[in-house]
Amino acid sequence: MANASLLNVALTRASYAVSTALAKPSAAILDNLFAAYPDYYRMRINGDERMAAIADAIRSEVGTCDSLGDVSVYEGYVLGWVARELGVETVSGCDLSGVAVERARAYLPGTYTTFDLNDLYKDPTSNLPIPKPDVLLVCECLYYIGPLANLTWRQTWLFREAKLAFLQALRRQANKAIIVQHFGKGQKESIGELVVAAGGHKVEDRWGIWLLPAAT
Ligand SMILES: C[S@@+](CC[C@H](N)C(=O)[O-])C[C@H]1O[C@@H](n2cnc3c(N)ncnc32)[C@H](O)[C@@H]1O
Repeated sequence: MANASLLNVALTRASYAVSTALAKPSAAILDNLFAAYPDYYRMRINGDERMAAIADAIRSEVGTCDSLGDVSVYEGYVLGWVARELGVETVSGCDLSGVAVERARAYLPGTYTTFDLNDLYKDPTSNLPIPKPDVLLVCECLYYIGPLANLTWRQTWLFREAKLAFLQALRRQANKAIIVQHFGKGQKESIGELVVAAGGHKVEDRWGIWLLPAAT
């Protein structure tokens, strides 16, 4: 029995690692992983510097923010941290994983739903299924989006026009601004370069924070 459960845990982790390295994890793979490992990404114990930098970026670059949304809300920790820091009461979020969305709902009152961001990538004329917030967080998630996922965002030239169309679609999903944050060495600068090409600018280097003004 113990061996069977150890094997199950190993398979869950392996299927996530393989699907992330080669392409992108499905909702089922994410749900299995998150059900087996609450706080899989160790947000709570990895320190709050990233959240503080995101809150600072909004405070200094956007000013007043009455509502916050998150396109990959996970368990709600980043959204909750930034909302508390800025005194924002209206929050919303979506995520591919239903398990993550349920945890976010339990953690922080708000409007939540499951959603595959690839749907917005495929149809940039469509909209997110959450109320339009003042500021929308797009943090540590773009490497799951697009035909080759991680590889797509590591190479600026790959699917460039589709990625720019997707970033323009994101600009229409907020009233004031989109905060794009990815700190991985392989993605940070290439994602940042695209954000600049889409009309944004860099705000902070350590955590790789760029701001895209909302489309008017
Ligand atoms: C590395 S975590 C980042 C969570 C949070 N945004 C943060 O910055 O801490 C990636 C999140 O993206 C979600 N995700 C993966 N693929 C997705 C997709 N196609 N559409 C929406 N969310 C997705 C995962 O379920 C997970 O919650």
